Amino acid sequence: MDKLLIIGGNRLHGEITISGAKNAALPILCASLLAETPLQLSAVAALKDIDTTLKLLGIMGVKVARNGDKVSLDASEVASFEATYDMVKTMRASILVLGPLLARFGTARVSLPGGCAIGSRPVDLHIKGLQAMGAAIHITHGYIQASTLHLPNRRLQGARYYMDLVTVTGTENLMMAAALAEGTTVLENAAKEPEVVDLAEMLIKMGANITGAGTDVITVVGVEKLNGTTHNVVCDRIEAGTYMVAAAMTGGEVKLLNARADLLDAVIEKLREAGAVVTSEGDTITVKSDGKLKAVNIRTAPHPAFPTDMQAQFMALNTVATGVAKVTETIFENRFMHVQEMQRMGADISIDGNTALVKGVPYLDGATVMATDLRASASLVLAGLVARGETTIERIYHLDRGYENLEDKLNALGANVKRIA
Ligand code: EPZ
Repeated sequence: MDKLLIIGGNRLHGEITISGAKNAALPILCASLLAETPLQLSAVAALKDIDTTLKLLGIMGVKVARNGDKVSLDASEVASFEATYDMVKTMRASILVLGPLLARFGTARVSLPGGCAIGSRPVDLHIKGLQAMGAAIHITHGYIQASTLHLPNRRLQGARYYMDLVTVTGTENLMMAAALAEGTTVLENAAKEPEVVDLAEMLIKMGANITGAGTDVITVVGVEKLNGTTHNVVCDRIEAGTYMVAAAMTGGEVKLLNARADLLDAVIEKLREAGAVVTSEGDTITVKSDGKLKAVNIRTAPHPAFPTDMQAQFMALNTVATGVAKVTETIFENRFMHVQEMQRMGADISIDGNTALVKGVPYLDGATVMATDLRASASLVLAGLVARGETTIERIYHLDRGYENLEDKLNALGANVKRIA
């Protein structure tokens, strides 16, 4: 199993290009199921989760062609409407085929995603929303069996649905389902993440009638059919945020291309509070730092508040910052798996419920640590970049799910990172 070997202590200098967003690409790829004609995408990152999604769509009968970051998907001859346990257990975002399959074909059989390292992650709101649109849904033998064949014209019916928790993929699934429903759907307490907005923008180009994406009320007037279009996937704000924290922690000056500051207000605010100098121009962000940072309190919440996907990275920053920081995770019930690994490197962190108290220490010691989930792995890379000596990170397949060419990008900035089999 691959490992990363990091020799800490190098300041980062130079520029790298941020890839297309994983969490925009995943729903966008699944949206291909809604289209009668081919979808042409660009800025689709080379990530494990993208490979998994393309494989799942291919098994269903979507004709997939890929050339670098360009992907075309033709769902004119889909023959299977199922996402098996084997597929879903490797990537829970496979649940995003449920809405499109129901909307276009009236039937779907999707394995219930299990929990994962960061929490139980139920999909009850996805299911309740589809039931509000008239879908008949039975959970049997670990599968979601869904159908609209009993409905007028066999189509989902527009509905008003209030999500009692803000759910990103729940909002995306229901927005895709509503796009081909009969009548108008109003999704209330909708997620406002930029990835939801990017999906909506693409659906509108495909012929969908959607207003309010990016606000907490999304209105979708169903249409008869959707066609393919061309779309460039929005940049990955979490990848960008991760490298911005790397620059702030190591000290140096890093310029990120294809990085939109307007998607990262809460993260930039915290980096400035910690003492980094963050400037931006168009889709370029520059971070300058002397590496001496102040501890910053973090409280995660739905966009535009501080993103949960950046919590672990700021935990790493706080371990070597001056002062004491409170890090509160309000979205997932078990997203502190990186703490015990950082403690092995000498971090001074104590956990009380969903809050961690982080006391900055003068330095971390390199150690062998284990990745447990995607963003926890990224935070261990950050810790390794500033630790004294050598850090070995095991199980880095977690990293490959969400960071394209991570070691190449870091080494291009002057880090010393090697992948060892
Ligand atoms: C998306 O996950 C992202 N994944 C996650 O990124 C991200 O951490 C999360 O949103 C929050 O921003 C993708 O977009 C593929 P939620 P998602 O539904 O949609 C509860 C990464 O590192 N909930 O917004 O699965 C849920 O348990 C990944 O890239 C229900 O109770 O998250 C959680 O506590 C990790 N019932 C909260 O809502 C439901 O039906 C938010 O979850 C749905 C969610």
